[in-house]
Amino acid sequence: YGDASQKIDYVFKMVLIGDSAVGKSQILARFARNEFSLESKATIGVEFQTRTLVIQHKSVKAQIWDTAGQERYRAVTSAYYRGAVGAMLVYDITKRQTFDHIPRWLEELRSHADKNIVIILIGNKSDLEHQRAVPTEDAKEFAQNEGLFFLETSALEATNVESAFLTVLTEIF
Ligand code: GTP
Ligand code: MG
Repeated sequence: YGDASQKIDYVFKMVLIGDSAVGKSQILARFARNEFSLESKATIGVEFQTRTLVIQHKSVKAQIWDTAGQERYRAVTSAYYRGAVGAMLVYDITKRQTFDHIPRWLEELRSHADKNIVIILIGNKSDLEHQRAVPTEDAKEFAQNEGLFFLETSALEATNVESAFLTVLTEIF
């Protein structure tokens, strides 16, 4: 955790996308406040959280936007992506369908966001290994073909959440 009281050198906007219930809001809660809830409600519209951290001796304020995976709760798409320099494309390793929808999310992202946006594919809920429905290799291969970073995370256990954000923020930097 960086010192939030100092001056801000950079503000980076990041967006979270992916199907409903994959854990986008809990990944953000873990990163921004080190919190987690099993009773997380579906997001309606758009929410955002910020966290300031120090990267290469500069203070970077990450402003992370989170929207609804459910179509009926989603806000205007172009405004959501405007100015974003990083994106997290999230699926749930226990729900094959959420991984099968990733190409659609990627298409939406590529048609609305800046062409230089840094993207990481995230397989969340790695704590549920016994329910795994998406092999790590499948996702790794997809990410490689599409030129995306890739990590499996657990918002519940706080595994790789920090690394996932740092991977994107460092690359933007
Ligand atoms: P929408 O807002 O509808 O798009 O969903 P979301 O992607 O924001 O999902 P959310 O973060 O609300 O999490 C959905 C459910 O999954 C909640 O019950 C969370 O507690 C649970 N969840 C999120 N991350 C994890 C995780 O890493 N492991 C486990 N076991 N459960 C998780
Ligand atoms: Mg949500």
